Amino acid sequence: MRGKLVVGNWKMNGGLAPNAALLGELAADWQAAADRKIAVCVPYPYLVQAQAALQATPIAWGAQDVSEHAAGAYTGEVSAAMLAEFGCRYAIVGHSERRQYFGDTDAVVAAKAKAALAAKLTPIVCVGELLSEREAGTTDAVVLRQLDAVLAVLGADAARVVVAYEPVWAIGTGRTATPEQAQDVHATLRARLAKAGAGDIPLLYGGSVKADNAASLFGRRDIDGGLIGGASLKAAEFLAIARA
Ligand code: PGA
Repeated sequence: MRGKLVVGNWKMNGGLAPNAALLGELAADWQAAADRKIAVCVPYPYLVQAQAALQATPIAWGAQDVSEHAAGAYTGEVSAAMLAEFGCRYAIVGHSERRQYFGDTDAVVAAKAKAALAAKLTPIVCVGELLSEREAGTTDAVVLRQLDAVLAVLGADAARVVVAYEPVWAIGTGRTATPEQAQDVHATLRARLAKAGAGDIPLLYGGSVKADNAASLFGRRDIDGGLIGGASLKAAEFLAIARA
């Protein structure tokens, strides 16, 4: 169902002591709101810490990736069922850093989304173009190719995912897409999702979202919230974004 959703992606940051402070501040300062939800996606070892800190709060938690396999001889991998045991609601799949540095292909991303759903997790499927692709005018073709790979595998279950549009050139660079640029891509994605019977899912924007640009992005018709990297590591900044 569509609704405002703001998700923190801590990436490979944190430690027991700083996490305790951050999670404690989030738990203390975020009140349940009917019209918006927040979540944090933390490194695997800290899921148990996030669960303990957040289980009595309206804040959800999740992982930043998940294996496409259910179980077995896959050294270093973590299954969706394992994430579910630690109360995860979400698993990010297809983040551009996984695609760029760890070789996650469109097909692997689709398989990961399917594995997450099989364990009743909500996959947050990331799509986004490189700067060179934007400059070549292929943004729509790239994000639709990435989305179609997932839609083809999920079928009717596509209505149970969250999609995040994250232009690669805007991630961690301080260079955010303009609200118009983001809305344009979101409208393209929304139309494709609607054709697949999934027009009503939350569609998030990610890439250098900060407290001072969140409202203008989230105010656009097809932008339902954000996937927040750097700014999710500070409780006050993250919550200001969530309230935008
Ligand atoms: P950023 O990262 O907010 O630090 O740009 C966003 C993301 O990678 O999800």
